[in-house]
Amino acid sequence: MANIKSIKTTPYQDQKPGTSGLRKRVPVFQQPNYVENFVQSIFDSLEGFEGQTLVIGGDGRYYNDVAIQKAIKIAAGNGFGKVMVGRDGLLSTPAASHIIRHYKAFGGLVLSASHNPGGPDGDFGIKYNIGNGGPAPEKITDAAFARTKVIDSYKMVEAPDVALGHIGTQRVGDMVVEVIDPVADYAALMETLFDFTAIRALFASGFRMRFDAMHAITGPYAHRILEEMLGAPEGTVINGTPSQDFGGGHPDPNLVYAKDLYDLLMSPDGPDFGAASDGDGDRNLIIGKNRFVTPSDSLAILAANAALAPGYATGIAGIARSMPTSAAADKVAEKRGLEMHETPTGWKFFGNLLDAGRVTICGEESAGTGSNHVREKDGLWAVLLWLNILAARKQSVDEIVRDHWQTYGRNYYTRHDYEEVDAAVANTLMDDLRAKLPGLVGQSFDDDLTVAYADDFTYHDPVDGSTSSKQGIRIGFTDGSRIVFRLSGTGTVGATLRLYLERYEAADGRHDLDTQTALEPLVGLADRLAGIRERTGRQSPSVIT
Ligand code: G6P
Ligand code: ZN
Repeated sequence: MANIKSIKTTPYQDQKPGTSGLRKRVPVFQQPNYVENFVQSIFDSLEGFEGQTLVIGGDGRYYNDVAIQKAIKIAAGNGFGKVMVGRDGLLSTPAASHIIRHYKAFGGLVLSASHNPGGPDGDFGIKYNIGNGGPAPEKITDAAFARTKVIDSYKMVEAPDVALGHIGTQRVGDMVVEVIDPVADYAALMETLFDFTAIRALFASGFRMRFDAMHAITGPYAHRILEEMLGAPEGTVINGTPSQDFGGGHPDPNLVYAKDLYDLLMSPDGPDFGAASDGDGDRNLIIGKNRFVTPSDSLAILAANAALAPGYATGIAGIARSMPTSAAADKVAEKRGLEMHETPTGWKFFGNLLDAGRVTICGEESAGTGSNHVREKDGLWAVLLWLNILAARKQSVDEIVRDHWQTYGRNYYTRHDYEEVDAAVANTLMDDLRAKLPGLVGQSFDDDLTVAYADDFTYHDPVDGSTSSKQGIRIGFTDGSRIVFRLSGTGTVGATLRLYLERYEAADGRHDLDTQTALEPLVGLADRLAGIRERTGRQSPSVIT
């Protein structure tokens, strides 16, 4: 019999999972039994995993290696039959989702803090995913949180650390541990979805691409898929070796942290196509030569062109986007007669729609796009779908984007973030604005902006009937313009106020305005309505994307 020990512990009161699992600074996780308590509390909130398989993998950030050994031994102590773990403890978030689904595992632990910086003073995180491959629903995370507050012991097998460097099978107590190639199954899935022959021909014709893995998890995936399988020249993938602190950088693929890539694509002799992904591989950034594609436009363009890829050749069932994401995708759904859903921010809200077959493609303004192939957003998937479309249409990114606007119109879009605002100030700002909403409808501002609706977004899940309220303030205008105010659910210091601005120009309208100029009147109005500058003392946003 295995050497299972029941070890006494004392609870922590702060282990509340957020939008994407439990996310804290590394020193918090390094406290005695912090990881043990949380993992045991998750298992205590689940039923029926005896003898079943658990998938474990992470993005390789600092503390991944330590936490993974603890998780394996606790899984063994709790009676899992098998743990599948990526070599060196690595699995991108979408790959983990695929492995869970592919091997019909009971669930999985994803160790990551996504796009947050890593290292001894950086962030770490643990998230539980269920058997469909997606993040656990609140029912489970709430139960786990309740358990963390009272937990007094955990079970673990006392055993030496598992050797994670080599593919193969070992034992921890009675439990089998299988170390797998983190890339192979995921790459095989991508090959079933996309026309690899056409993409290979594209690269062979001299098409040049730069993929910035930002020293994070997609490095090994991108080297294998883009350079080895698709024949992109060596050097296509940069910063492709995962490092514990992401090379000291901030692995968030946006115009601030991937500025070098942006500058390269805007330079006269830059490549044809640029892309990047985040710490755990679920976000994406798409930039064509002289053309940045906003995540909202990217969602719409991918949905409109998905049928060019073999995996979606029979068409898509529908599209879903998070509420603050622009309505560009709605225009595609409208014209094509597809089902369209607007959900709260957070990938988990797409799970039910995907499981029910109501939608095929989903996306968020926060650089997440994905489909029903897994239950997480998927950075490399978006890049490969773009490559497939480029190969099939034989046009540049810029031509495809312009053509899209000429067909569906253009949704000018930007997001202004006010980071590390005093939480009380931010909450009062939102409360005061909420109180004003009923009086706004029908009012006109600046001559031509008439409020069509003003509310705090409530989502009614059409699949399970649940309701999520207070998901962000929307002020919509009769011309299709929109202002959204929301407090971030992922920030770690103070509050982050996000202001999302959108203006619609019809298919025959003006598509060449500068985005910030096009949205200036809305920015001014947002400030007048909410008093952002006056209340926060900030003259301008900290980040504009
Ligand atoms: C994470 C989630 C996304 C979400 C994003 C932004 O990446 O997985 O689904 O859109 O955070 O969240 P925030 O609350 O910071 O705007
Ligand atoms: Zn991520």
